[in-house]
This record gives sequence, C-alpha cells and structure tokens, in this order.
Amino acid sequence: MSFTRKMVLSVAGNKVVSGFIKKYGMRLGAARFVAGETLKEAIEQVKLLNRDGLVVTLDHLGEFVFDEHEAMASTQACLDVLDAVKASGVNSNMSLKMTSLGLDLSKELCLKHMRLILDKAREHNNFVRIDMEDYAHIAITMEIFDELKREYGKHVGLVIQAYLFRTVDDMKHLEETYENCNLRLVKGAYLESPTVAFPNKVDVDQNYLKIIEMHLLSGHFSAVATHDDMVINHVKAFVKKHNIPNDRFEFQMLYGVRPETQRQLVKEGYAMRVYVPYGNDWYGYFTRRIAERPANAFFIIKNMFRK
Ligand code: FDA
Repeated sequence: MSFTRKMVLSVAGNKVVSGFIKKYGMRLGAARFVAGETLKEAIEQVKLLNRDGLVVTLDHLGEFVFDEHEAMASTQACLDVLDAVKASGVNSNMSLKMTSLGLDLSKELCLKHMRLILDKAREHNNFVRIDMEDYAHIAITMEIFDELKREYGKHVGLVIQAYLFRTVDDMKHLEETYENCNLRLVKGAYLESPTVAFPNKVDVDQNYLKIIEMHLLSGHFSAVATHDDMVINHVKAFVKKHNIPNDRFEFQMLYGVRPETQRQLVKEGYAMRVYVPYGNDWYGYFTRRIAERPANAFFIIKNMFRK
C-alpha cells in the first residue's frame, strides 16, 4: 500500500477531520461519488446510466453498525432497494456490506437479515452481492456466504480481494464447492497489516491478474471491478485468446470514476456495471475513494474556494 494511501486512511480516522468532512463533504465533492442521499435520487441516476447501456449495482451506504435498530433500518433499506428496482423496471442488482446488517452484533442477527433480503431478491429474481470488508471480517463473511450460497444459489455472490495472501485458497474453495460462483474480483480497499496482505502495489497487481485469469478459466462468472487500464486491456486480450464469450464476465467501475471509459467499454461490446452508492452514511466510502487516488482530493480543495 502506498504511503499516501496509508496517510489518507489514517487521517480520515481523525475525529476533527471526519467531523469537518461529514458536515461539508456533500457540498465539497462527495456528490461526485454518491448518487444522492435518497433512494428516489439514486433510481433517477440508475435510469440515466441504463439509458447509456450501463447496468448497475445499487448500494445503500452503511457499514460498521453496532446497534440492533440501526441494523434493522439498514436491512429495511436493502429491501426497499430491491422493491424500487422491481417497481421502476431499472436494470440493477444490489450490493451490501454485512457490517451494516449487524455482523458485529452477532452472526445469527446478520444471517436473519440476510435471509430477509435474499428471500426478496429471489422473489424478484434479482441478485445480491456481498461486498468484502476489512480483514477482521473475512473469515466470518466466508462462513456466512457458504450458508447462504447453499440456500440461495444464483441469487447471491461475493467479492474477493487480490491483496490478501489467503485469496487463492478462498477462490479454490468457492470454485470447487459451487456450480456457478459469481465473484467480483477487486484489488482491495482497506488498510491491512503486511502479515495478511501484500504491502506492495506491484504484488497486489500481479496477484490480481492471477486471480482474474483463474476465475475466467474456471467457467464461473467473473466481475472484474477496476479502473486500471493495464488490467482492462489484459482481460480483453485474455478472453480473446481463450475464446471466453462476453456473457461470462463483466467489467465494473464506481459511480463517478472514469465515466467516459465506462461508456467506451459498452461501445466495444462489453458488459459494464456501475456501482451506485447512495444514502447519508457516505463518509467511509468517500474517504476510501480519496485514498485510492489523492488527485480526487483536488476537486474538494477547488470546491472549498468556489464562491
Ligand atoms: P488502482 O487504484 O490501483 O489504480 C490503477 C490505475 O487505474 C491508476 O493508476 C489509473 O491509471 C487508473 N485510475 C484509477 N482511478 C482512476 C480515476 N479516478 N480516474 C482515472 N484513472 C483512474 N474493495 C474492497 O475491498 N471490497 C469491495 O467489496 C469492493 N467493491 C468494489 C466494487 C467496485 C465496482 C469497484 C470498482 C471497486 C471495489 N472495491 C472494493 C475497491 C477496490 O478494491 C479498489 O480499491 C479500487 O477499485 C481501486 O483499485 P483499481 O483496481 O481501480 O486500481
């Protein structure tokens, strides 16, 4: 992990800094990465993206919830997303973070909430992607996913992070256990110890290409979630060489990041899914975007001086 990324993630944890950004952040630029604070606003953005040929995964922002009522409210928000997608007819599935559903309170509570959400997803023939969070939650997330995957099959999928040493083993387990294991493959966004994750970006990038190739060749569906041209070009060449059809994988990018590239990929005939977050709890998400690309901080500074 780069020094600047580490620094931004550490500073983001500071109470004074977080208080200031939470107060002024939407106005200062968080709106570039967050599709509004309400579901209605988010659905409007999804319609615009769909119009341009992009499909979507909607995410009601929230993570690290330690209160049962809050966890229930987050669960309800997820149910609302699935209903709104159905009612509006937009092309979107859903992503969620299990710490927003009470994972830190108990595994049982989180499972109860996940089952409510997945019952609804199955009823609407939709799909729910479980985002992968920090290392402290990996083992329990894998455990819960195993239970849910057996019960809900094609309606649930997971994210796998290339920066972790354990990743290849986790993927082998998933690929060998399930018939179709739809995985989103990412580099990894959290500040992790060098005892569990590759500390150098070059090693993360190398492991990322390795797991992408592994999953594409496995025949399971792959979602390659990156803004990195090196990786995108590698995938294009790899699928061509191995005759992997375009309906066996998709690219994914975050809302507000490289929008022209997103549309260019659609023009080239690839499926492109945009991760569209919305809601009030945008702070953690927003600071990870700044940490990934400190250049993103410049428009905040610019907005601070705009009249
Ligand atoms: P990286 O940040 O290494 O950037 C590589 C290159 O990409 C840059 O040098 C530049 O050329 C280009 N680039 C990147 N950002 C750009 C920008 N804003 N404008 C122009 N060029 C840019 N993580 C996680 O831990 N758990 C999860 O569940 C998810 N989920 C998720 C979903 C989706 C849809 C995406 C796209 C990402 C995630 N992530 C995630 C985040 C992921 O782990 C990772 O932190 C970011 O995607 C950043 O890594 P990149 O692969 O984009 O490349």
